[in-house]
Amino acid sequence: MLSNPLAPSWLTVPDDANALAPAVWSANAERSDSGELVVAGVAASELARQYGTPLYVVDEADARSRAITIRESFDREFARIGSTVKVYYAGKAFLSIEVARWMNEAGLNIDVCSGGELAVALAAGVDAARLGLHGNNKSVREIDRAVGVGIGAIVLDSPIEIQRVADAARAHGRVQNVRLRVNSGVHASTHEYLATAREDQKFGIPLSEVAEIVAVIRSHDSLNFLGLHSHIGSQIFGTDGFAEAARRLFDVHAELLASGPVPELNLGGGFGIAYTSVDETFPINELAASFADIVSAAATRLGVPVPVLAIEPGRVIIGNAGHTLYEVGTIKDVLVDGAAVRKYVSVDGGMSDNIRPALYGADYSARLANRSSAAEPALVRVAGKHCESGDIVVLAEYLPGDVSPGDLLAVPATGAYCWSMASNYNYLGRPPVVAVLDGRSRVLVRGETEEDLLRRDAGLDNR
Ligand code: LLP
Repeated sequence: MLSNPLAPSWLTVPDDANALAPAVWSANAERSDSGELVVAGVAASELARQYGTPLYVVDEADARSRAITIRESFDREFARIGSTVKVYYAGKAFLSIEVARWMNEAGLNIDVCSGGELAVALAAGVDAARLGLHGNNKSVREIDRAVGVGIGAIVLDSPIEIQRVADAARAHGRVQNVRLRVNSGVHASTHEYLATAREDQKFGIPLSEVAEIVAVIRSHDSLNFLGLHSHIGSQIFGTDGFAEAARRLFDVHAELLASGPVPELNLGGGFGIAYTSVDETFPINELAASFADIVSAAATRLGVPVPVLAIEPGRVIIGNAGHTLYEVGTIKDVLVDGAAVRKYVSVDGGMSDNIRPALYGADYSARLANRSSAAEPALVRVAGKHCESGDIVVLAEYLPGDVSPGDLLAVPATGAYCWSMASNYNYLGRPPVVAVLDGRSRVLVRGETEEDLLRRDAGLDNR
């Protein structure tokens, strides 16, 4: 079959429009003998019948195993260079009480960036000493609560926060561990990175101001300085950007060692994942080995000890473990420029459950979930049901041409930054999240009903 001229150049006509690309789908996603999508032994049609659609489905064993793999890989590689690693799961990717427990049981720490995320991690029973708090504008209340519960570390993002955290620590009679977020001037996204003298963005402080600010941190008896923190971006492939950031941070790290201890270095998160079959990712063990090489080379170059490394991956742990199930409602063949047809397949969710295509132009893929089909592939655009033309779930994909109303579609790799960025636009309730494991499913987060949405509207009481 010839490719549709409306398809982007990277998207080719698949030999089999039912195939599940292994790098994109969760480890336990497969087609049953009847051709249906089954995740961890639970059929898509069964999930849709039990919970409705749209539905977020998390492959529990896969999420746990990715968390363990990343911790073990980094532990092994940093043991090789005589150091250790603290892996923080970045809760902003997706946090619920159970997921916090999974990460805790996998031996990960958890990074939270608001009072709400902190509350979820604490409700999960995670020891506060294993949590880290981020944010460029933590409120005084958030700081006070975090210090009060004994949070493991707070990442300071601006000079004004030093006094706030020091005061809270003194009030609680504690010595608070802090890191300092720096702006390395390295900004990476996907395959490319930019390195500038100073990035024009809200996070962190410039490297040139670090020495002065660390001196202020060290002057407070109620603060204990752990080291520098850098996060250069998200959905990054390869290690060049991290290497450049590490080199820049290390020069300052070494300078700081002259005036006091600097036991740790935090290089943040941002490891990229496959959203479509053409995304080529870096195996975690190679990533861990490169990080160890980068850090040990930098330490050797400057003649300083290898610090404890901290990293904060989110997407790479939970992204590919999650899928979204939708039901197809309407289908329209749209003739574009009188030349080619794009099939618009509209589903019962959209930008309220996955804002990433609208916000970032992010690419996703999709497959028929309730059945397979040998029909000739057709170029489709999976659209949502919102009143907005940019409400797209999958910009371009080939699906079997007989895709029909009532079919179920599954969109893989929606485990990160979909539920956590969901909204109630057009008064759609946020969908439930279910975990599947060994042929069974259970709710992680209930879906919102119309009643939930109306309950918060004070107009009901104002009649
Ligand atoms: N650490 C810090 C300080 C961060 O700001 C982030 C993400 C992470 C760790 C985790 O990054 P990850 O490993 O998950 O890429 N909403 C965007 C991503 C924003 C990420 C913000 N910070 C998206 O949907 O692509």
